[in-house]
Amino acid sequence: MNKRIVVYKTLSPALLERLQQHVAVTQVDLTASDGLARLREVLPGAHGLLGASLPLGSDLLDLAPDLQVVSSISVGVDNYDIPDLTRRRVMLTHTPDVLTETTADTGFALLLASARRVVELANWVRDGHWHKSLGPAHFGTDVQGKTLGIVGMGRIGDALARRAAAGFGMRVLYHSNHRKPDAEARHGARYRSLDALLGEADFVCLTVPLSASTEGLIGARELALMKPGAILVNIARGRVVDEAALIEALRDGRIGGAGLDVFEQEPLPADSPLLRLSNVVATPHIGSATHETREAMARCAVDNLLEALAGERPRYWVNPF
Ligand code: DGY
Repeated sequence: MNKRIVVYKTLSPALLERLQQHVAVTQVDLTASDGLARLREVLPGAHGLLGASLPLGSDLLDLAPDLQVVSSISVGVDNYDIPDLTRRRVMLTHTPDVLTETTADTGFALLLASARRVVELANWVRDGHWHKSLGPAHFGTDVQGKTLGIVGMGRIGDALARRAAAGFGMRVLYHSNHRKPDAEARHGARYRSLDALLGEADFVCLTVPLSASTEGLIGARELALMKPGAILVNIARGRVVDEAALIEALRDGRIGGAGLDVFEQEPLPADSPLLRLSNVVATPHIGSATHETREAMARCAVDNLLEALAGERPRYWVNPF
């Protein structure tokens, strides 16, 4: 057991035990007030890091000259400078696949909640306003039979398309870097340019990874292209959308609503104007947050890390060299 790793996310006892059978484990609680200082203390001598939700910049990597692998418990890798890790010959691994269905469920939950005003009206009932039967002022909009535009047709986009086409009889449009013949054949999905998709879809769901080319992808111009009353769902990353422009479009009633699981700043500040808009459903980045899926992601991350430290090629290696 000559390899040492640092775990900075809570793991189940079973996974921790599995790790401890192979490597020496130091746990760091990043939610503690001295968490980051403690991490800095233990980085020298670490061969592996296992965790999530921490931007790992060169200030931290410089402290870990023996580092061989960063095993992220996430599919998204926007917290890492991949070229820098590659230059340092540090493997980066992630956990796709196991979270696909759960994250697509989150997208659909936001889509349905926004269309049918579930959160707004549930709060209205809770606040004691339900005294007579409802009129049009409280009606929502149909989902079945409408058009869903998926921006980013990767694994999660595909799972959304399946739900939309098979479950809700929706017409599916998509925009992606490459055409996806499989999705076209299986879900009847049709390729569109981004602008055309925005102009045709009743619901636009964002699933693209955050990168230099997707940052700010949806700004004032793109929001103006959306159909009046259309609903935007973001399960990608907050910075894919220009949040100030979104707030304006929602305030003006330019678009019908938004279901948002991700934000420019997370946790979302309590004074965010988004929280004062009744046509916004905001959830706290719960894309993959179920007991089963988070355990499966952690298991996948443990496998990746152990494979890397054993000198094998990890299954989900982001920066092969
Ligand atoms: C991911 O895995 O990237 C999800 O957004 C959860 O953080």
